[in-house]
Amino acid sequence: MSDTNESKQAHWDTIFSAKQDAELGWFEDDCSQTLSFLKNTAISASSTLFLAGAGTSKLVDELINTDANLIINDISAKALEQLSQRLNNTKCQYLHHDLGHSFDKGFDKGFTVDVWIDRAVLHFLLTEKQITHYFENLKSTVKCGGYVLLAEFSNAGATHCAGLAVHRYSENEMQVRLGDNFELINSKQYTFVNPFKQERPYIYALFKRRQ
Ligand SMILES: C[S@@+](CC[C@H](N)C(=O)[O-])C[C@H]1O[C@@H](n2cnc3c(N)ncnc32)[C@H](O)[C@@H]1O
Repeated sequence: MSDTNESKQAHWDTIFSAKQDAELGWFEDDCSQTLSFLKNTAISASSTLFLAGAGTSKLVDELINTDANLIINDISAKALEQLSQRLNNTKCQYLHHDLGHSFDKGFDKGFTVDVWIDRAVLHFLLTEKQITHYFENLKSTVKCGGYVLLAEFSNAGATHCAGLAVHRYSENEMQVRLGDNFELINSKQYTFVNPFKQERPYIYALFKRRQ
């Protein structure tokens, strides 16, 4: 990893080392908002799901119950370590990678997924180069007929999270960056109330890749 990558990883590792889950500003005990969008994606035991920047999210525990294959990503080795110890599930694969960098660099590009799920990760990528790499990674990975769920701070949302600036999203910007091969299925403005009782407006949008 480059110096920049190492400092980003260190930032997140420090957070996951210092705090319990319920002390994290994005912690969700109840993942039903995300799960309600995923109901439209026909997840089965033969599906492969990509969890971008999964952190230590309880969503992963819910998705294990579907028997799908999970590829669990994060820039933080600490988060992946904590999650793998908690899950203790041999079916999960872990991918330690900064999604602002191309999968070409140091990772076998050969995998494909049925559903790409991102809650509160994409919005931490700030430069055009990082954002472009993220969407290239997504497009090289999601199968035709597969789905993408993006849940990011909306334009009405906070400007910072976890001590970092964020790039806020509209449904339109998501669509433009995904391109015409992705069709919007459903979207919703959703205000998440975090463990500190602060309101965090998100935009949730589910897209389907055309056949
Ligand atoms: C706000 S937390 C959200 C965690 C989880 N998705 C959830 O909803 O609980 C952001 C997560 O993204 C990870 N992350 C931040 N930048 C990343 C990057 N460039 N590539 C991969 N993961 C990243 C962090 O380590 C952290 O786990």
